[in-house]
Amino acid sequence: ADPDPLQDLCVADLSASISANNFPCKPFSEVTSDDFVFDGLRKQANFTDAFGVTVTTGNVLSFPGLNTLGIAMNRVDIQPGGINPPHSHPRASEIGIVIEGKILAGIVTTKNVYYSKVLTAGQVFVIPRGLVHFQLNVGRKKALTFTAFNSHLPGSTVLPLNLFAAAPSIPVEVLTKTFLVDEDAINNIKSKFVF
Ligand code: GLV
Ligand code: MN
Repeated sequence: ADPDPLQDLCVADLSASISANNFPCKPFSEVTSDDFVFDGLRKQANFTDAFGVTVTTGNVLSFPGLNTLGIAMNRVDIQPGGINPPHSHPRASEIGIVIEGKILAGIVTTKNVYYSKVLTAGQVFVIPRGLVHFQLNVGRKKALTFTAFNSHLPGSTVLPLNLFAAAPSIPVEVLTKTFLVDEDAINNIKSKFVF
């Protein structure tokens, strides 16, 4: 989904003072072999969040060598019973491969049609750009999936956090009227998202 590169390589200078629609390239004289290698997906990060998932991102921000190339990769570790909650990527389609475990992978279209499948090691799934999707670990062991994107910065709108953990918060009245419930119900949900 990203624009095509205009030159062989453009390793991002993340600390450049100018801000453009992507990152400027660091000088060729400073580019090294290490710029084309990323170790950040080697290990499972610690599970720290409420959902029992850790999404480790290899995008232009963590892996500047991806700058302008229109690709990125994540590692998704999900605890038994954990969920990578409904989210969407505004700038990329996603393709994923299950390495271990058993996940229910679901997609909902803009017409509210739901597609889903239970997947195990070696199976590959695709999420069309922008569609809401999730992965639930339905196995007894941890699940490991690698995902890839056609953007160097796909972005991720995580629906529960977007709505209930925004800062500053969305006015309660917006949420009570959106979900047709009272304030207690909204505050109850919000209280779970104070990390
Ligand atoms: C999984 O859906 C991911 O965004 O990495
Ligand atoms: Mn995703």
